[in-house]
Amino acid sequence: MRASNVLGFKCVRCGKEWPDAKDYVCVSCGGNLDVVYDYRAIKKKLSRESLKKNRDTSVWRYREILPISRYRGVPVVHIGGTPLYKADRLGADLGLKDLWLKDDGRNPSASFKDRAGSVAVAKALELGEKVVTGASTGNAASSMACLTAGLGLKTIIFVPEKAPVAKIAQLLVFGATVIAVKGTYDQAFDLCLKATEEFGWYNRNTGHNPFTREGKKTASFEVVEQLGWKVPDKVFVSVGDGNIISGLWKGFKDFHSLGLIDRLPRLVGVQAEKSDAIKRAFESDGVIRPVSGETLADSISVSLPRDGDAAVKALRESKGFAVSVTDDEILDAMRATARRESVFGEPAGVASVAGLKKAAAQGLVQAGEKIVALITGNGLKDVASAMKAVGKPFLIEPDEGELQKLPGLLGMVPGRRTA
Ligand SMILES: Cc1ncc(COP(=O)(O)O)c(C=O)c1O
Ligand SMILES: [Zn+2]
Repeated sequence: MRASNVLGFKCVRCGKEWPDAKDYVCVSCGGNLDVVYDYRAIKKKLSRESLKKNRDTSVWRYREILPISRYRGVPVVHIGGTPLYKADRLGADLGLKDLWLKDDGRNPSASFKDRAGSVAVAKALELGEKVVTGASTGNAASSMACLTAGLGLKTIIFVPEKAPVAKIAQLLVFGATVIAVKGTYDQAFDLCLKATEEFGWYNRNTGHNPFTREGKKTASFEVVEQLGWKVPDKVFVSVGDGNIISGLWKGFKDFHSLGLIDRLPRLVGVQAEKSDAIKRAFESDGVIRPVSGETLADSISVSLPRDGDAAVKALRESKGFAVSVTDDEILDAMRATARRESVFGEPAGVASVAGLKKAAAQGLVQAGEKIVALITGNGLKDVASAMKAVGKPFLIEPDEGELQKLPGLLGMVPGRRTA
């Protein structure tokens, strides 16, 4: 079923057009598909005025530009509409005057992936699917589990055995069937694709399913609206498979094609040092080649990015660039973002800030530029990594004498409270 606002699908790799996405990807070359919209028709319904009157603050606010024809039964939990904070203290530390943080850890399953899940689940319901499956480093899966809970869909998830325990707990609590794979995310992904072929389940895998990008683009719409219709100069985002960055680009381009904004931002993709296949491709011939994928930031630990072509395209078309960061730089960004702006992000969630710090130090951003950094996942998703960023608490007996010994250690001048 094709929504009336959709003209068809275009292969990101070879450009061939297809009337539907029943095979998920381009049958000619295996490239991922991109949804092509009828902007002329959408323009008649979606305008700054219509958005001003719209009271819905969730992703469904943008339904005129989403590829869904039937919204009955879609998840009712509030997805999207996350805060955009002016980050003056962190900005001052980095020498930036106009820095904003979008906290997507505030979504129902505590990550940006709820945006992708919203549209993928709506599509599965529209198609009358009974079983949905997906492979994930953890967040996409926990989102699927959260969003499908109670909807009458069976959800079967493939995750690497070593996914952080909080993400596995989410999956199990929300009632998904969880298959932990003794291997990497990439191996879980391939196994999930085989399961789809074998059993005909609806597949939500990042990039492979053309609708995840469509949900992710809603973050760009929100950023523009939250900035009072101003377009940021640069948007920093962490990159694993490359589906968030390609989704963001789609969102900005949609608004531009609809005449809602008159310029586009530059996108900056931040990858972990050994999980930098997209950065390498972008800086060379554009061809994605596998890397080791090792990093403590599990959500961006990817050997072979599954939306790499679209991510490289987003970087090139937006005249952006890519930065790579070490695990230590990521942990430093976790502390800085939490301690200066009260936003606690998981390692992949704050990699954007680590990349921004590096880019600022290299003179790749200017002090007056309007910069948005996306925080893509909540810090409680991976407490073990967070503990690596910090020291231990003071441990004492429940005894006042021991407490009296502490002020020096706490860096405090001992004093008496006066009445
Ligand atoms: C918290 C977080 N940040 C960033 C990413 C990277 O997104 P993508 O794989 O689409 O590049 C992910 C993906 O799982 C994520 O969960
Ligand atoms: Zn193709």
